[in-house]
Amino acid sequence: MYISKLSLFQFKNYETLDVVFEPKINCIAGENGAGKTNLLDALHYLSMSKSYFLNTDSQNILHNQNMMMIKANFHNTEENFEIYCAIQTGQKKILKVNDVLYSKITEHIGRFPVVMIAPSDQDLIAEGSEDRRRFLDSLISQIDSQYLQNLIHYNHYLAQRNAILKQNTTIDNTLIEMYDKYLLNFGEKITQKRQLFMEEFLPIFQKNYDFLTQKKEKCHFEYKADFLLKDFKNKYYQAFQKDVMLKRTTFGTHKDDIVFFIDNYPLKKYGSQGQQKSFLIALKLAQYEIIYQKKQFKPILLLDDIFDKLDDFRIQQLIKLVNNETFGQIFVTDARPERTSQIFATIEIKPAIFTIQNGKLI
Ligand SMILES: Nc1ncnc2c1ncn2[C@@H]1O[C@H](COP(=O)(O)OP(=O)(O)O)[C@@H](O)[C@H]1O
Ligand SMILES: [Mg+2]
Repeated sequence: MYISKLSLFQFKNYETLDVVFEPKINCIAGENGAGKTNLLDALHYLSMSKSYFLNTDSQNILHNQNMMMIKANFHNTEENFEIYCAIQTGQKKILKVNDVLYSKITEHIGRFPVVMIAPSDQDLIAEGSEDRRRFLDSLISQIDSQYLQNLIHYNHYLAQRNAILKQNTTIDNTLIEMYDKYLLNFGEKITQKRQLFMEEFLPIFQKNYDFLTQKKEKCHFEYKADFLLKDFKNKYYQAFQKDVMLKRTTFGTHKDDIVFFIDNYPLKKYGSQGQQKSFLIALKLAQYEIIYQKKQFKPILLLDDIFDKLDDFRIQQLIKLVNNETFGQIFVTDARPERTSQIFATIEIKPAIFTIQNGKLI
């Protein structure tokens, strides 16, 4: 799959942009703050119907404006799609493919996959479990639409249950019992899927880590979930008193986590910076590979400021993957486009270079 034409209107720091990309390698050059990352984010937006970086849709609208639009042409071997996404403050997001509006935006997820590798991925190691769940959920949702539906149901009932626990009046036990049933039902399905997925994902991740680092150390991750505990249903019910006291649901799938290990020690504490970077890139390459396996076509790869962060050896390894046709279309941002050109020159690929200045293509 590849993207040919992209148009932006009032997206972040772009007033308007019209650009035609190459099917293979596109380098987005420009000084700090020019809008390189924003451009990659626009592509992510069309894939996932949201920003990779911001949770609130309206924050993606150019300051002092009230609407934004992103449009691009995606191409598969046989089909062409125009994806259109528009946001207006106070209104429902509009997402269309070939002029057909989705009734449910979730139906879009997974149809046009992208994989982003960005400096903020470090949050996956440094921050709390929420970031890791988001990574996992967005990945599984792209390859399993039922999973996404279960997740939406679970989160809906969780919010309802928490709202009851937050009230200061006596708790309506009939309602709580109903929500318990839903949370246990959907939570169990989500946990099972996450566990199965992680079992499949781990060896792919390890293969990619070994490739990037020449098997210097052994990495793995473990999936932790309340609903994997023995007797989890009883434990769920036993948590009720605590839930009442803390005014929120304390046991369940929304607390799951993934723990990263390097040579059996926690990566966050014991991994060097370089090891952590390799770990993150291996995770993303594994994400790419598993989406490719399931969809039978190549996702679009978005590499944000990656050459700044990698040593020569790892850059070489990545470039090997480009050369052996592992990847399809690639977008790289680089403040120094001559470096990107040099890197790709080693495999005789000439990237198309687009220079951005202050939200404008020059
Ligand atoms: N909603 C917005 N409206 C206007 N400008 C924005 C908006 N969101 C981000 N920006 C601006 O975009 C610029 C950052 O763009 P970015 O793509 O991160 O730059 P870089 O080229 O360094 O990757 C900053 O100047 C930031 O203020
Ligand atoms: Mg940037």
